[in-house]
Amino acid sequence: MIHIKSKTEIEKMRDAGKLAAELLEQTGLRVKAGVSTLELNDYAHRFTIKNGAESAPLNYKGFPKSICTSINNVVCHGIPKKDETLKDGDIMNIDVTVKLRGYHGDTSRMFAVGEIDEKTRQLLFDTQKAMNIGIETIKPGGRISDIGTAIDAYLTPRRYGIVRDLTGHGIGRNFHEEPSVPHYSQNHIRVQLKPGMTFTVEPMVNLGGYEVVFSKTDGWTVTTADGSLSAQYEHTCLVTADGYEILTQLEGK
Ligand code: MF3
Ligand code: CO
Ligand code: CO
Repeated sequence: MIHIKSKTEIEKMRDAGKLAAELLEQTGLRVKAGVSTLELNDYAHRFTIKNGAESAPLNYKGFPKSICTSINNVVCHGIPKKDETLKDGDIMNIDVTVKLRGYHGDTSRMFAVGEIDEKTRQLLFDTQKAMNIGIETIKPGGRISDIGTAIDAYLTPRRYGIVRDLTGHGIGRNFHEEPSVPHYSQNHIRVQLKPGMTFTVEPMVNLGGYEVVFSKTDGWTVTTADGSLSAQYEHTCLVTADGYEILTQLEGK
């Protein structure tokens, strides 16, 4: 069942989304060579609490930390660690989710540490662009499958691997709810979009193949099967009367 949010719920989703965006921005300002992913986690956790919210990832299905930090060939769900320090040339996704007055805001983006090469820069650019192209298809009467179809049409000719084993998701009172939002072209998700639906668009894009491996050691870390670099951007979106609203965007950005 897909939950359609009421006017008051939409207000709460806007507040949660805005806080998540601010949290991501502030945490990102702390990214530089020599900083550990645990330091970023601890900063983000304090910021969240100070703003009257909870870190949704912490203890979610046993996840041990408050944010996900995914470096280089890590696709998503990387666990912040004391002994994992950023170094020049790394790329990293920071994924934050807050729960504010019962509602969730979920957003992520890439950060580059120092100088990165041209191909890597292009990966980040194309992944963000693909997310935006997917989001731009959102309108009442449209379908969830339009999002993945548009993302796939942009990325596949550019020879990227679009991760298939993880998708976007409905979000609201629950961190993850229906519908599932695939980022590749397919036609079996026939869900029609209606005003008041809220879900994420969060493509994971590999420089190599689309296949991924789920860690058996920590139960969370997802890496590319071929060791290639991976990028991801994520926004929480609302279907409006005439299109969409991005809930996790800072004003003026
Ligand atoms: N924020 C991730 C997403 O976009 C989910 C992380 S689940 C966690 O859906 F447990 F790893 F935090
Ligand atoms: Co998400
Ligand atoms: Co997320």
